[in-house]
Amino acid sequence: MPAHLVCFEKACRKRYPVTEVIYNCPACGGLLEVGYTDWSPDPERLKRFFRERRMSNAPLEQSGVWRYRELIPFLDDFGNVVTLREGNTPLLESPKAAAYGGLKSIAFKHQGFNPTGSFKDNGMTCGASQAIRLGMRRVACVSTGNTSASMSAYASAAGLQPIIFVPHGNIALGKLAQALEYGALTLQVEANFDQILALVRRLAERLGIYLLNSINPFRIEGQKSIAIEMMDQRDWRPPDWVVLPGGNLGNVSALGKAFRELRDLGFIPRLPRLAVIQAEGAAPFYRFMKAPRPGGFEPERRPETLATAIRIGAPVSWPKAWYEIEQSNGVVEQVSEEEIADAKAQIGRAGIGCEPASAATLAGIRKLTGAGVIDKEADVVAVLTGNLLKDPDYVHRYHTGQLKTAHGRPVRGKFANQPVVAPNDPDRIAALLSG
Ligand SMILES: Cc1ncc(COP(=O)(O)O)c(C=O)c1O
Ligand SMILES: [Zn+2]
Repeated sequence: MPAHLVCFEKACRKRYPVTEVIYNCPACGGLLEVGYTDWSPDPERLKRFFRERRMSNAPLEQSGVWRYRELIPFLDDFGNVVTLREGNTPLLESPKAAAYGGLKSIAFKHQGFNPTGSFKDNGMTCGASQAIRLGMRRVACVSTGNTSASMSAYASAAGLQPIIFVPHGNIALGKLAQALEYGALTLQVEANFDQILALVRRLAERLGIYLLNSINPFRIEGQKSIAIEMMDQRDWRPPDWVVLPGGNLGNVSALGKAFRELRDLGFIPRLPRLAVIQAEGAAPFYRFMKAPRPGGFEPERRPETLATAIRIGAPVSWPKAWYEIEQSNGVVEQVSEEEIADAKAQIGRAGIGCEPASAATLAGIRKLTGAGVIDKEADVVAVLTGNLLKDPDYVHRYHTGQLKTAHGRPVRGKFANQPVVAPNDPDRIAALLSG
């Protein structure tokens, strides 16, 4: 099946070979996406294959991305695939979290169960495989943390050199630790995410390094598998809503593309509505969507949130995200630091747990059900993007009453679970436990 790169801009739509190393349309500067010609997979046959493949021990079939390869058919040789058996993430129901969100029921699609603990692995297996196909030896990304952890793992697994650029001092320790352990050359730059991205895009061409940021359309192809696997797990019944946190807006672009393609190819009967939730201090897309118009997007110059994964002021994929919100009749909401922190603690108490950015979903759902935008009877899937252990410092501060914003404002949690210091004395411990 012939794959190509195509400009996302409606007025341009210029096509390029799938093997060209470009990140934006050379003609107009627009975003690129992967397109396919003569693409007419047979839904019923493939649905059966996808199930049967779960029984196989072959690496490609064990991957929750490559098992669905007919729906991401950009490679011509699967010998280039690097897989850590990504995807395969559960849908977890939680009545407790549903009640907190104002819903009768909810299911979390927990991407934190991935090999490096975040949804980035679904895309990175595709981005790294494309790098190998192109004959690249070095790959790089700028990252709020999870992308660098994921890229480092996939590059090292494939024998490529990972180079990561992270904002100095503004990355959760769990993620930095992963990149170091996976062998990345790690540059901590004294600038914020948006500034570093501009810098690295200039450097990549000069130094012959392949960029694996979410602007890379092959990563977006891989992240489509989050939606595809979700539909497979639900016997191809789309929910009413899919809710996800928004930072650089690559994930909503990927899920939106996946649902549209699944509908157009006859796998699902209709689109779910998409809801993107941003943190108040880093919510340029939320503000834009209040009155969207071409040329009207204004980046947030000083993005601030303790959910560092979504601390992004100039999201590169906003045009795609805009399109997907419109197509799905979706919404964009913003939530405060307190709302994120408390929703996160509730997801933890449900025995599930996630990193701060992921909890923006439940915080947003609570707000949207409160406002009557999401019906309490609605069938809702929230995507938890990262694992609880990514940011242990945040968790400890929350539960010990020490969580503060970058400006020193305390974030007071309603569900703090303080550790208790106990004497080495059985009677006094017994008294504590019977209290
Ligand atoms: C845990 C987590 N959640 C959400 C996001 C935001 O995703 P996107 O940038 O695709 O909007 C990120 C991105 O780094 C992330 O790491
Ligand atoms: Zn173009």
